[in-house]
Amino acid sequence: MRRRTQKHLVHFAIFFGILFLIIFLGRSQSNSKPFAWTTVRYRTTSASLPEPRGVCPGLTGSFKPALIVSRVAADGDPKWLDALADLYHLCVYIVDAPADASSTYLQVPANRGHEAMAYLTFLIDNYDNIPESGAVFVHGSRWAWHNDHKDYDNAALLTALNMSTALAPFGYHNLRCDWSVSTCSTKEAQPQGSMETYFQAVTEPWNARAVSDTALPRALAILFGGDEYSMAKSDERLLMSRTDAVRSQCCAQFVVSRDRVLQHTREEYVALRQWLLDGRDDIVAAEHLQKSKAAPSDDRVSGRILSYVWHILFMPRSVSDVQSGTADGVNLERLNYMACPSADECYCRLYGRCNLEGCTTPGRCHGQYEVPPDFKLPKDWAATHSYQNTFQP
Ligand SMILES: *[C@@H]1O[C@H](CO)[C@@H](O)[C@H](O)[C@H]1NC(C)=O
Repeated sequence: MRRRTQKHLVHFAIFFGILFLIIFLGRSQSNSKPFAWTTVRYRTTSASLPEPRGVCPGLTGSFKPALIVSRVAADGDPKWLDALADLYHLCVYIVDAPADASSTYLQVPANRGHEAMAYLTFLIDNYDNIPESGAVFVHGSRWAWHNDHKDYDNAALLTALNMSTALAPFGYHNLRCDWSVSTCSTKEAQPQGSMETYFQAVTEPWNARAVSDTALPRALAILFGGDEYSMAKSDERLLMSRTDAVRSQCCAQFVVSRDRVLQHTREEYVALRQWLLDGRDDIVAAEHLQKSKAAPSDDRVSGRILSYVWHILFMPRSVSDVQSGTADGVNLERLNYMACPSADECYCRLYGRCNLEGCTTPGRCHGQYEVPPDFKLPKDWAATHSYQNTFQP
């Protein structure tokens, strides 16, 4: 009898042990709090907003997707874009061109935040005319070290790009598939707010990656929290912890559907652009208080912060969010998952390069893309690689 009781007790203990474990694991999982990163709430103190001078001509009613190009004069010959005009409605912004007050077309209010100024100006001044087939946002140079192609050729990538399959899963997709220089790998990329990154930012102030990563948690809190957010009573629904990581692809070239663009109001894009503009070095001292909330004046830092923001803005927050009870927020785990598809899946979905061999890790398919030495292409790359308009996808 006593032995039987003992046996019962052991069984009870095991049963409750497992029960507690299940409850505990379930709890710690649902504990991953949603972030209130759904609406841009930054408020500018600037008395006047830029005039709408970024209209893309002929976009109204276009059946082609828009190709928004952020160019600087140093990007070289723009002729490579001509061949893409059959596939895309071109909207080419030259961000370092002198202002032309007589025109309302394709101009930006300032050369600030790298490609972000052209992208945001397009969204603001063409908000009611985003094509139903979506939009592609790219840099102005045909050749760039980060273009995910064996010759680093954006013309080849954009020719091969399949908009409908690219937009099918989430309505947003980065143009890169390879994970090198992304923050997708949990093994290689530290959480942005980690102590290690912070110490690096302090000891190497020239290290734009460390400095912008360290600045990211506060920047996101201000962008999405607005005036309600104050560092004094830090809100955990806005501020990432030291162990939270935003995992995403690199280099700010992407496709997005009209629906995903319209999940934010035009005013939100205006606010985001003001965050960039308010951080300019030439803003007067009287506005200094506001400036401490605006974008860091170093473009390498503010541009890089915004390269983390695009997918937060554009990834869907609908049915499954409602089901998981996080409709009022961004589930970071789910966002990270959507932002980092495996390379082989991505090459197939975007560029029709399917069933690739050598995809040994989720972030790499051997023979597809290699980071060039020092993240630079040789000076004569364009001259030696411009095959006459025959793009090799
Ligand atoms: C995109 O992919 C789909 C599905 O494979 C295919 O039906 C469609 O023709 C492709 N579109 C283009 C423009 O290649």
